[in-house]
Amino acid sequence: MDIFQISGEKPLHGTVQVSGSKNAALPLFAASLLSDQETILENVPDLSDINFMAEILSELGAEISRIDNNTWKIKPTSISFRAPYELVRKMRASVCLLGPLVARLRRAEIPMPGGCVIGHRPIDLHVKALQSLGAEVELSNGVVKVLGRKLRGNTIFLGGRHGSAVTGTANALMLAVLTPGKTILEGCACEPEISDLCKMLIRMGAQIVGIGSHRLTIEGVSKLDGCKHKVIPDRIEAGTYLLAGAITKGEITLEGVETSHLGSFLNLLESIGIHLTKKENQIKIYPPSDRLKPIEAVALPYPGIPTDLQAQICALASLIPGLSVITERVYPSRFMHVPELQRMGAHISIESSSAIIRGTNQLNGAPVMASDLRASAALILAGLAAKGETWVQRIYHLDRGYETFENKLNKLGAEVKRLPESELPNSVSINNN
Ligand code: EPZ
Repeated sequence: MDIFQISGEKPLHGTVQVSGSKNAALPLFAASLLSDQETILENVPDLSDINFMAEILSELGAEISRIDNNTWKIKPTSISFRAPYELVRKMRASVCLLGPLVARLRRAEIPMPGGCVIGHRPIDLHVKALQSLGAEVELSNGVVKVLGRKLRGNTIFLGGRHGSAVTGTANALMLAVLTPGKTILEGCACEPEISDLCKMLIRMGAQIVGIGSHRLTIEGVSKLDGCKHKVIPDRIEAGTYLLAGAITKGEITLEGVETSHLGSFLNLLESIGIHLTKKENQIKIYPPSDRLKPIEAVALPYPGIPTDLQAQICALASLIPGLSVITERVYPSRFMHVPELQRMGAHISIESSSAIIRGTNQLNGAPVMASDLRASAALILAGLAAKGETWVQRIYHLDRGYETFENKLNKLGAEVKRLPESELPNSVSINNN
């Protein structure tokens, strides 16, 4: 297992290219199964989660190959309806296979996604969508077994306790496109990743209206073709680099970003005193000319502040004098990063689903442990700003969602070394039990 050694207190400078979006690419890979024809996906990020999905598609029988680092060719001529537990358990997003397999084969057997450190993540809305379109769903021995003998279009409300479900909407969409009749998804997710999925499905021959809204109308068709599709840029990766610039008081230019996907987040940065210049596909952040203001933010479904940037925003707030309040409405207990930031000297208390942060002038390097993808990004940002050395363990979490993170950061002037865990100095090794 690799670790990161970070030497902090270096303002970042320069230009970084934003990669394709992980959370857009994963459902797009699944959607390729809707046709027996060839699909080409471009601008796919080079991540372990993508490799997992490719492995699962290959296990299902699809011919899948990598044309170059960021381009994949998928030919699912004949596929099976049963996905292997060993692979599915590694990645929750494989739940996205349910919709396309039932749509194409009228049958699917996918192991239930397991627990997740970021919070309670049921699939009741996925099941509701499948059943509302006429599928029979059975949850037995840890497997979701679905039969789609009498599928029929229907109107489905997809709002849940914490807003609409993103991959739940993806599953409903991917089933509805090959289900006879009209389907209306009310209160569905409208994340840019869902709009990207709609655009690819239309390229394959699907009939969808209402893209970008909380109401999608789908007219089922009998067959879909393959297509060529370019994955949208990763708005969460982009937001993470902007926060890296802010926390190190640096000057960074993001290229290849879709600025319109970051609206509420950019407003938040500007509201606390950060100076940005914005073009359609470029954002530049400048060192703050004045002290930043404390942050008041609420993580919400799109177009709200993304929950996948909440941890990184907490890292920045830890260094802004005054009292910041960051509330999490999507995963109310998503605060695994807090005890690790406290190890670095942050003053944070958790009150129900809010982090109350009293900013300090300085964080200190320390050995810390990553618990999940976005928590690991937050710890690295804190390490970039901290005095001395920070050692981040379990960075395999990071490799799931950030393409060549340390290379991109080091090109911006950071000092981040990827080392084998054996290099962790005894004096700093954390009790891993
Ligand atoms: C997607 O997860 C993303 N993952 C997550 O990103 C992201 O945090 C999340 O959306 C919210 O934006 C991918 O796209 C692969 P949800 P998803 O179903 O679709 C509740 C990252 O770091 N809910 O929209 O699984 C659920 O408990 C990852 O890249 C139900 O109640 O999230 C949560 O509170 C982490 N019933 C809320 O909805 C359901 O059936 C949002 O979950 C489904 C969800």
